[in-house]
Formats: sequence, C-alpha cells, structure tokens
Amino acid sequence: MSSAGTITPAFPVLTTSPFPAAPAAKPMPVSATLAANEALAARRSRGEPVLPLAFGEAGLPAHPALQEALAAATASNGYGPVAGCAALRAAAAGYWQRRGLPTSPGSVVCGPGSKALLFGLLLATGADVAVPRPSWVSYAAQAGLAGAMPHFVPAAPGEGGICDPDALGAAVTAARAAGREIRSVIVTLPDNPTGRLPRPATVRALCQVAAAHDLVIISDEIYRDLVHDPAAAVLSPAAVAPERTVVTTALSKSFALGGWRIGVARLPEGALGGWLRRQLVGICSEIWSAPAAPIQQAAALAFSEPHNLTERVARSRSLHAAVCRGVAAVCREAGLDVPAPQAAFYVYPDFEPWRAHLGRRHGVTTSQGLAGLLLDRYGAGTLAASAFGEDPKVLRLRLATGLLYGDSEARQEAALAADNPLSLPWIAAQLDRLSEILADLAP
Ligand SMILES: Cc1ncc(COP(=O)(O)O)c(C=O)c1O
Repeated sequence: MSSAGTITPAFPVLTTSPFPAAPAAKPMPVSATLAANEALAARRSRGEPVLPLAFGEAGLPAHPALQEALAAATASNGYGPVAGCAALRAAAAGYWQRRGLPTSPGSVVCGPGSKALLFGLLLATGADVAVPRPSWVSYAAQAGLAGAMPHFVPAAPGEGGICDPDALGAAVTAARAAGREIRSVIVTLPDNPTGRLPRPATVRALCQVAAAHDLVIISDEIYRDLVHDPAAAVLSPAAVAPERTVVTTALSKSFALGGWRIGVARLPEGALGGWLRRQLVGICSEIWSAPAAPIQQAAALAFSEPHNLTERVARSRSLHAAVCRGVAAVCREAGLDVPAPQAAFYVYPDFEPWRAHLGRRHGVTTSQGLAGLLLDRYGAGTLAASAFGEDPKVLRLRLATGLLYGDSEARQEAALAADNPLSLPWIAAQLDRLSEILADLAP
C-alpha cells in the first residue's frame, strides 16, 4: 500500500457503544499502525510534506514472477480446502524443512495473513497469553478480542521479541495464584518493534520455562528471512521444543506482499498439535472459509523458493539493513540511544537523554506526546513505544524504514539494485530531513 485511504466517514459517529449491556461492545480503536498511516495520508492529501516512518510496510514492488503466477491463477474460483490447497501446504512444508524444521504438509494451516492465523491461535488456546514488553501492537489487542488477558513480561535484557525466561516463569505463577491461566507465550523472531533477534541461549531457556509450565509457544517468524546478517544464529523455539511450538510466517514482509493477505502456520506434531490444528481449522472454517485461491497459487511459488525469488529476498534484506543502519546512525549522531538494528526494517531509538529538555521545552513526557509532536510540528510519522505495551513514560519510538525506498516502482527497483542505497537522492533526502528534525528537537 503506497498510501492508505482514510476510513473516517463523512457523517457523525457514536463514540460510545449503543449496546452498553453487551460484553463485547468495548470501543475498538483502529490498530495504531494503521491509524498513524491514515494521519500521514491526510497530511499528504493536503499537500504537506511528510516523513513516513510509521507504517510497517516493506515498501517494495511485487516480484514479476509472483505477479505472473497470480495472473495465471485467476480462474481458480472454488473455495478449496479450509487449511489451504495442497500445493501451498507442500511448499510451506518445504520452506520450513530448508530451515531445519521437519514439516509435513498436513501440519500446515494457511490463512489470509498471519495476523488472522495468530488470532485464530489465541482463540484456539482459549486462555491468557504472555507477550514480551515491548511487542507487536496486535498481540495484546487480539488477546482482548479473544476474551483473554495479555500479560506483558519484560523482554530479556538487551534483546527483543522474547520474554525474559525467569520473569515469564514468575508471571505464570503469579497469574495462576490470582486465578488467571496463562497457556501460551508469544515469541517474535526476529522482533517488531525493536528489530532485534532473540539469542539462541534465551530461546532455549524460554523453552524450558514453557515446558515447566506447560505453555504453547507461538513463534511469529514473519521477519525470519530479513535478518540483516545472513550468518547470524537464528534458533526457532520449534527446533528446541517441537512438541509445543506453533510457527507462523507470511509473505507480507520478505516479499512485500502485505496486500495479498496470505500467511501460514506450522502446527506441532503430536497430541497437542493435533488438537490445536483441529481447533484452528474449525475457527478458520467459521471466519474466512479458506484463503483466496489465486493468491494461494502464487504463494506456493514463493514458498518453493526458486533462485530468482530468493535473490529478491536477499536484495531486500540488504536494502533494509543499509537503510536501518543509516537511520540508526542519524539518531545516534543526534545524541539518542539506539540498539543496533539486527533485522527487518525497524529502528527503536530511545529519547531518554532528551527527557528534561522535551518536558521543559515542549511539555512532552510520554512516547505518545513525542510521536504527536513529531507529526504535528514536522510531518514525521512514527509509532509511540506505548503502542507496543511500554509504559507511557518510556520515551522510545519505532521508526519503520520501508516507506523511504521511493514512491514509485522505478525508484523502489533502483533502491533494490543499488549497492549503496543511502546514496540515492530520494533516500538521502529523507535521512537528511530526519537529521534536521532531530537537530531542531535536540537540547
Ligand atoms: C510481528 C508481526 N507479526 C505479524 C504481522 C502480520 O502480518 P500479516 O498479517 O500481513 O501476515 C506483522 C505485520 O506488521 C508483524 O509485524
């Protein structure tokens, strides 16, 4: 999506539920990422300049081979199997097999995006879930929708996407003592918002805690192929605790196909996995029936990973890495604390060194206030750390680089092909703009 259509209607809308007695009638705001994107689109439509760092979109064209595969499949008009067509399940099984996770097509369930599958999994487990603090905006929101409670557990120190294992054990015990049953834990490997990759030792320790407390591990690996250093050690919990780990992934990030809405889940073999799979397929059957048939055909090609497509993922990985490094360097030079980005297209700077100045000069004391200031004063869209479950006073922001690569396919292709994308004028100009903004804001 190069720009989001606004979904603000032209008529007055009730702000409180007309069904106060209905338990499920809680106000449901638009997901923070989509809301930030809409605010930027509105500014752009008024002709105001924007710096689009809010939306977790990969910002690259669909590969021509995938477009052709989709075009060739438009005659596929039947619903097809709920869990996905045989070709896609076999291709996804092969994809995981090549990553050291033996997988049979029968344990794969496909859906319209991994977001939908994650929601289905939370419904399937039917109990509270532990999520890292910070973690992707939708886990906690989805848990609420599923009638469960999200329990935020601090991320392991210096890491992202994984609960500190000891703190997880303590949280499960405390929740049980208070009458709440945590039955699953989410790992984001690698992570959104921090762009960090959980360490193998931490993954192993978390798996031990999960086994001790009989938790299902839901490992969201949508960014797995976008780890910047291809030699980095990536350990999935499914390799350590295969009997209790569900893995989800999708084509939205590595192939920039978010709008095609296709994701896949790998359920564990064994009694627990069989039960979860049955539940999940039942839920899928009642909500979306089956993923879109032509999309599944194209996705089968993507997951079978012919050379031209893996080459494309490799180029996008180096583009994300270069621009993330550039954005992190700009933030660091301005005086902010920035964990080195390791994966995906996210940078997570901490404005703590500027706290006193931001409070005094701008009355900003929260990440939400900081994101609002950047948007109103400079047209810079960012996401506040509080959207990821952080304490409102934590002055971190997530900066997403995916929409810096160019506003046309030609520019995005040039960015993919460039050995030094930061030297392209349209990317350099946006990094310069970020630098100017931070210089203006700095103490
Ligand atoms: C960590 C994480 N998981 C899942 C998703 C959902 O992706 P999709 O539903 O497009 O597969 C996203 C998208 O932003 C994400 O960042």
